[in-house]
Amino acid sequence: MTILSAVAAGVTYRSRNGAVEALKDVSLDLAAGEIVVALGASGCGKSTLLGLFAGFVRPTSGAVQSEGVPVTGPGPDRAVVFQDDALMPWLSAEDNVAFGLRLQGMGRAERLARARDLLAQVGLAQFAGHAIHEMSGGMRQRVGLARALAVKPRFLLMDEPLGALDELTRERMQVLLLQLWQGSGTGIFLITHSIEEALFLATDLVLMSPRPGRIVRRYRPEFARRFLAGEPIRAIKGDPQFLAMREELAGAILSEESEGLGHG
Ligand SMILES: Nc1ncnc2c1ncn2[C@@H]1O[C@H](COP(=O)(O)OP(=O)(O)O)[C@@H](O)[C@H]1O
Ligand SMILES: [Mg+2]
Repeated sequence: MTILSAVAAGVTYRSRNGAVEALKDVSLDLAAGEIVVALGASGCGKSTLLGLFAGFVRPTSGAVQSEGVPVTGPGPDRAVVFQDDALMPWLSAEDNVAFGLRLQGMGRAERLARARDLLAQVGLAQFAGHAIHEMSGGMRQRVGLARALAVKPRFLLMDEPLGALDELTRERMQVLLLQLWQGSGTGIFLITHSIEEALFLATDLVLMSPRPGRIVRRYRPEFARRFLAGEPIRAIKGDPQFLAMREELAGAILSEESEGLGHG
């Protein structure tokens, strides 16, 4: 079932230096329970597209809808996770996770219980009382994920959430994300410029062209579901089918870039 949709959406930013067409004629449905990954080069409009769904950015043309109703701003049904975790460093992990629940008016005992449960799910049970400034980047990202999940959103919108992590931590977070997603019913929209990450996580992968961003190809990788069915991660990422798709995507990105130069 489609929850969020962009319908022929375009975004042109107007600044003192003139107009920048960031997105052009983008139609994309985000279905409940899918992991939709948008892959594209830096500057192609990925954050703009996520901003449309989050309600931070208004379309200049076309429309963005949540269950058929125009999106006019942010809402608790759509939780956003950024690369820069945007946590409050002076507060404890559990207070950060409980923060959105407090805004929703939930009582202290209930919200701390939910925060601790979520911190346990992301492997931080024993760090609930620790201040954020005492934590590593990977731990902060897990707190950010727990905070986003605390409000029980229908969609998690993730803007390069793992981009600042070292390679091994990043892979652990990919695994954690799939485990949390499994059976949650929450849809995920994640943007990345890592081809490998996109292939491993996506159940629905859209490839974007360079600016103005358009959707140029769509794939339905099976690797996330294979991993959740028990296949080891190294076997998946080393599978000839995975490697072949990785090369195909790299080639598609390069050919889009050279086409863009021709128009440029
Ligand atoms: N608020 C803004 N005002 C003007 N230009 C912007 C603004 N935000 C983004 N842009 C421009 O729009 C294009 C797409 O940006 P963005 O969506 O951030 O791309 P990505 O996330 O793929 O790197 C870039 O050329 C960027 O400089
Ligand atoms: Mg971006």
